[in-house]
Amino acid sequence: MSVQPLVVIVMAMEAEAAPLRAALGAAPAEPPVWASSLPARVAIADHAGVDVVLVTNGTDPRTGVDCIGSTAAALATQVALDHARSGLARQPDLVLTVGTAGGWNRAGASIGDVYLAWDRFVCHDRRIDLPGFDAFGRADLPAADLRAHAEALGCRLGIVTTGDSLDESPEDAARIVASGAEVKEMEAAAVAWIGSLHDVPVGAVKAITDLVDSPVTTAEQFSANLATAADALQRTTLALLARLGEEIGADV
Ligand code: ADE
Repeated sequence: MSVQPLVVIVMAMEAEAAPLRAALGAAPAEPPVWASSLPARVAIADHAGVDVVLVTNGTDPRTGVDCIGSTAAALATQVALDHARSGLARQPDLVLTVGTAGGWNRAGASIGDVYLAWDRFVCHDRRIDLPGFDAFGRADLPAADLRAHAEALGCRLGIVTTGDSLDESPEDAARIVASGAEVKEMEAAAVAWIGSLHDVPVGAVKAITDLVDSPVTTAEQFSANLATAADALQRTTLALLARLGEEIGADV
């Protein structure tokens, strides 16, 4: 009996995830018992020959907003991997961190562009000036090689840099220039860290909602472009899953 590939998708905001969840026809699934008091929401789907576990960071009960950022992303990733392993008795073939991001005019990005991560995930706001801890703070975790898919899907490639703020402080800016990153968001390096602990490759699909070096504020651009970016995320992720089904399915 052939086994379909299993891909875990981790998303932070409900507005980013809703179009993809609907297009996948994903059904809600129970989180593991140990995670029952966490906000993470799990859903499962079968799309184009790929089994999908879609986890969202969920809603913060205190403030009522989506739990964006690295802490909730790490927890959600652990919840999804545990659901795959304990609930489905499967080791995922790939984890994808899917969401919106900032880009830069200076790197040639436009609103609505979709990037796949290559070749790594870094952090720009974990500055720890102590031997050894400085490297831990930078993260520098490898991205799964999705370059052929990027070419076929018309996606750009770039290093993804993660921090827990929407704005860019001067210290963040200097670190981002030094790392060569082209995609700024708030979850990917945390997802990649959990993936690395479990030996599962991690890739990223990130749609650009705002240009960090634009005179218009990030918040204004983000609000204006969120729906367009969520639609681009949904279309690109479905197409990527279909290609992964062919690629990984052929190897299984
Ligand atoms: N998500 C969307 N745009 C972002 C930005 N500029 N920084 C961090 N996360 C983002």
